[in-house]
Order: sequence, then structure tokens, then C-alpha cells
Amino acid sequence: MSRDGFGSKLGIVAAAAGSAVGLGNIYRFPCELGNNGGGAFLLVYLMIVLCLGIPVMLCELVIGRKTQRNSIGAFKLLKPKTAWPVIGYMGVFCAFIIMAFYCTIAGWTLEYIIKAVGNQFQGKDLATIEQEFNAFHNMGWRNVLWGSIFIFLTAFVVFKGVADGIEKYSKVLMPMLLLILVVLAIRSLTLPGARAGLKFLFHPDFSKITGDVLISALGQVFFSLSMGMGVLITYGSYIKKDDNLATTALSVTLSDTLVAVLAGIVIFPAAFSFGVKPTEGMGLVFSTLPMIFNQMPGGYFFCIIFFVLLAVAALTSTISLLEVIVAYFVEELHIKRGWATVIASLGCMVLGVFASLSLRDGTSITIAGMSFFNSLDFLSAKILLPIGAFFTVIFVGWLLGKTKFFEEITNQGSLKLSVKGVIFFIIKFLAPLAIAFIFITGLL
Ligand code: TRP
Repeated sequence: MSRDGFGSKLGIVAAAAGSAVGLGNIYRFPCELGNNGGGAFLLVYLMIVLCLGIPVMLCELVIGRKTQRNSIGAFKLLKPKTAWPVIGYMGVFCAFIIMAFYCTIAGWTLEYIIKAVGNQFQGKDLATIEQEFNAFHNMGWRNVLWGSIFIFLTAFVVFKGVADGIEKYSKVLMPMLLLILVVLAIRSLTLPGARAGLKFLFHPDFSKITGDVLISALGQVFFSLSMGMGVLITYGSYIKKDDNLATTALSVTLSDTLVAVLAGIVIFPAAFSFGVKPTEGMGLVFSTLPMIFNQMPGGYFFCIIFFVLLAVAALTSTISLLEVIVAYFVEELHIKRGWATVIASLGCMVLGVFASLSLRDGTSITIAGMSFFNSLDFLSAKILLPIGAFFTVIFVGWLLGKTKFFEEITNQGSLKLSVKGVIFFIIKFLAPLAIAFIFITGLL
């Protein structure tokens, strides 16, 4: 049986970047940064991207392309009759969890498109916009509906297959998102009092670096780059044998980080200018953005385009999450692609109902004192992804070994890659130690 593959070089980068760039960059990154000390968080974040992001991403791509399998099949093929495929199973489990809360937020972008089209922000002050946002996420069933519609959209694209589904959309729309962020950044930076926001973002206060900040940054890096649960193994398996994995990893990491930092430059100067607290969390993004549009010429149109692009960015991410589950169902459990898509999305929807409903004030849907929504976020980003990434680097560094790793990243010796020794050293020693250290200090 022949497998789908990505059509062009840009296609792979676009699809992997499409998976990486999403609500993680524009929504989750500012929330985490605001709650974890601003500049100090950014500094730690960037260091982790540089030292761990690229090597871990390469490990996943190597495993995927080498085996041409989904994230569970890949480990079964490389180490049959061992416990290693558990990493793959964990990834599939994690995909359900992330889908559940991610689609809830993605659903909000749909609600906000409608609001933007209906011109419901213009002329309103911050207090009103904030109040409307709070009222909205307290309307449990409306969130459920939007989240389910979003899962449905994802299922539609995933059902149509890899090459003509994912690739076609990401190629045009992601650069547009980048462009509109630049426009927004300029507006935000020229607002009165914007400097305080820049200072918050770029002046690290080292005393703020705690175990909590470290684990939050680590989790955010993995979350934002879609690492640690098999997305990139699955996508790697669709990459052609003569494509360059290292440049793919580099371009994906750079574009993802660029979008996150840009989102920070959009959100914080404006938030400080309007008096939104950086620790506000959800409201930080969903209240600040409409206020920025209110303050710019053509804001009505920009607002619509922005929320449409944000929804698309979220969609290219949820596609990758659902694809991990579907690829597993199809290839390992031999379920037909159509049914696999239906079963997987229904599973996500059921979890999503609880996630959405748990956002209401005074919710009783809690785990260990956290709302169900927050506990899904916590479990995936701060527990499952670091564990997944840890075992992935151990697998490549200690079991797959240097020779096979070099063969794969140099396309059997036909590509020159002078830094491969350094990368392998990081994978074998530095990455596992760093992840373990941060994980332990963060959870103590
Ligand atoms: N990286 C995406 C974002 O930033 C979300 C995402 C897609 C993801 N696939 C993932 C996160 C896999 C973790 C693992 O929006």
C-alpha cells in the first residue's frame, strides 16, 4: 500500500510549521509569559528552543522518515517486542487530551469571527469587552457547540488525506498571518504607554526564574513546536527520502518562534497601554486584541481577517493532532480512514464537552483543584510532552545510535552537515539531563 507524501519541499515545511504555529503561539505563549515573570520567561524560552527545540525535533523527524510509520508503528518496527511503543501510545492519548481543550479555544475564534463581522467590538471600552468575554466563556453549551464545529472542520480536512488537505491550505495562509501580525505589532508599539509592555517582555528579571518558570517554558516550547507526542514522527514519515531534515527542523523552529515573539510584541505593549494585567490569562488575548483593532484605521476589516487567520492557524494544528490518532487507527488497527476519523473526532468531542463546561465560573468539573480544562492543559504540556520528548531523545541517542542518526539526517551521506556531532551530543547527553532536571525541579 502506498502512503501519502508531501508534494514539495515548501509543502513539508508549511505543513510542519502549520502544525507548530497556532493558538500555542498567539494565545498560550502570551498567557504563560504573563504569568511567569515576563522577560525572564522569554529568555528561558528562547534558550530552550535553541538548545532543545531543534535537536528534539530532528529526533522525531528521523524516527518518522526512517520507518515510514505512524508514531506507534515506528517504535514497533525499530524495537519489536519491547516497551518502546508505549511512547507512541502515550502520544495518541496526549493527542486526545490536547484536542479537547485546544478545540474549545479554537471555537472561540469562530465566535469572534462572527462578532467581528457583526461589528460588535467597535466603540466599546475595555471593561465592556472583558465583561462580554467573561459572559461568553461562562455560556458552557455555546462553547461546546463551537468546539464541536471546530472538531468537525478538522475531521473534514483529515478525512481528505494528507497531500491535498493539509498542504494546500497552509502554504498561502500562514505567511498572511505573519504579515498581519507585523501590522498589528506596529499599531501596538505606537500606542501611548507601549514602552512598559516592551520592558515587561524584553527586560528579564533573573530573580523571577523559578522551577515553575522553567517547567512552564519547557512545556510551552514542546507545545508550541508540536513536539513530544508523535506529530513530527507522523509528519516525518510523509517526508521524502531526499529532503533535508535539518533545514526543515530549522525553518519550522524559526518561524514558530518568530510568530510567538511577534505575538508578544503585539499583546504586551497594547495590554499595558489599555491597562490589561499581564497575568490575566485568557482575557489577556481575547480582550486586548479587539481593543487594538478599535484603535486602528480599517480595524473592522483587520479584525475579521485576523480571527479568520487565527482560526486557520488553529485548524492546521488540530489537523496534525487528529492525524496522529487517525494514522494509528488506520495503520495499526486497520480501521478504514473514514471510520477512523469519525471515531477519533467523537472521542475528542466527548472530552471537549467537559473541557468547555469546566470553564464556567465556580465549576464543579475539577481535578486536583484545577478546572478540568486547566488540568488537561497541565497534564499535556507539563507532564506528557516532557516525558515523551525525554524518551524520544533517549531512544535516538542510546538505542538508534549515532551511525543510523547520521545516515538519516545526511540522506545516507549525500548531504553535508558540519554540526551533526554537536547535535548528537546534545541528543545523547544534554537534552535528557536538561529535560529531567527541569521536570523534577518544576514539579517539586
Ligand atoms: N503547536 C500547536 C500550537 O502551538 C499545537 C499543537 C499541534 C500541538 N500539534 C501538537 C501541541 C502536538 C503539542 C503536541 O498551537
